[in-house]
Amino acid sequence: MSVTIEVEGLSKRFGTMTAVDVVGFAMEEHEFFSLVGPSGCGKTTTLRCVAGLETADDGRISIKNTTVYDAASRIDVPTHERAIGMVFQNYAVWPHMSVFENIAYPLRLQRQSRSEQQREVGRVLALLGMEPLAERKPSQLSGGQQQRVALGRALVASPDVLLLDEPLSNLDAKLREHMRIELKRIQRDTGIPILYVTHDQLEALAMSDRIAVMNEGRVHQIASPVEIYERPATKFVLDFIGSVNYLPAELHTVEADTVMLHVAGGATLTLPRPSFVPDAREVLLGVRPEDMVLGRSVEGSDLHATVELRSFLGNLCEYRLRYQGHELRVQTEKDELVPEGEDVVLGVRRGYLLEAGAERDPTARAS
Ligand SMILES: Nc1ncnc2c1ncn2[C@@H]1O[C@H](COP(=O)(O)OP(=O)(O)O)[C@@H](O)[C@H]1O
Ligand SMILES: [Mg+2]
Repeated sequence: MSVTIEVEGLSKRFGTMTAVDVVGFAMEEHEFFSLVGPSGCGKTTTLRCVAGLETADDGRISIKNTTVYDAASRIDVPTHERAIGMVFQNYAVWPHMSVFENIAYPLRLQRQSRSEQQREVGRVLALLGMEPLAERKPSQLSGGQQQRVALGRALVASPDVLLLDEPLSNLDAKLREHMRIELKRIQRDTGIPILYVTHDQLEALAMSDRIAVMNEGRVHQIASPVEIYERPATKFVLDFIGSVNYLPAELHTVEADTVMLHVAGGATLTLPRPSFVPDAREVLLGVRPEDMVLGRSVEGSDLHATVELRSFLGNLCEYRLRYQGHELRVQTEKDELVPEGEDVVLGVRRGYLLEAGAERDPTARAS
């Protein structure tokens, strides 16, 4: 398998602040790879280092087997010699140029012939479904169409890889959803590898082949969306991707297929054995809202809770339940409607166990 972008041991400091802290990942050919994490976690800085817009302090970056940055051997290839296309959040299209001229701009800089420009811009316009709009000015385009022009300009010189930094965040929700699908389609059609940056976990889940989840300059996990969602490697990933209820508990017995917990507050709960079981007695049980069941009686559970609030969400129903001092969020199919004020038993179809206190955080370095 050939590697598109390889980043090893990348670090970047601004003064005393470490924005990127020993980051590494390897993107495969044709891959849609996302860096996702909260604002300020170092996504943009990582991308800017890959682009050569920022010089890292340490590490190595290669694009298509060419080393473009290597701190040890002082290699630092300038941006314009890296075969990349870029679109950033505040994409700028030239207001005085037509769609055609905007997209042709990088080819003009490369002094390509007029006929070459015609052919390549034509190819990109077709790919973006924008042929009828070629002569329009940006002011005559919608936000989504302008975004597509910026994308076209990044694609026209047939780069080895496309770097996209929150390119959809200035679009309204509907358009954003539409452009997600468009981007995915363009990526399929061209086979161009995309390194995508977003703070929006849903966006990353929906589009990516693989995701690197980052926090405070470090990578917590690199895996497929399904893997990230179902087997989060750290508490941070569990928290950041989707929502979670937490209950302190004591691990009572661990069987081949099940674990039994004494939940704080007195209830006993048996659930399917999670992929990770900490070697500890005091644990934190994490359960996603959709992984709970509620009923008059639930096998393996005597956890009684009260329905405080019920919201009908169309395809499902969301409850706020009170168990002792804890508020729990539960989502169920709509055909199991339980009225507010009712006492129910809560079971867990799938849960995550974290060691109380330690919580398996790879950023907690041994000192
Ligand atoms: N040019 C800069 N000078 C000083 N600090 C910066 C600079 N660029 C980014 N930072 C800081 O580095 C950290 C990571 O920023 P950034 O990579 O933009 O995060 P993200 O894109 O994940 O929101 C932040 O704390 C940010 O304030
Ligand atoms: Mg950013």
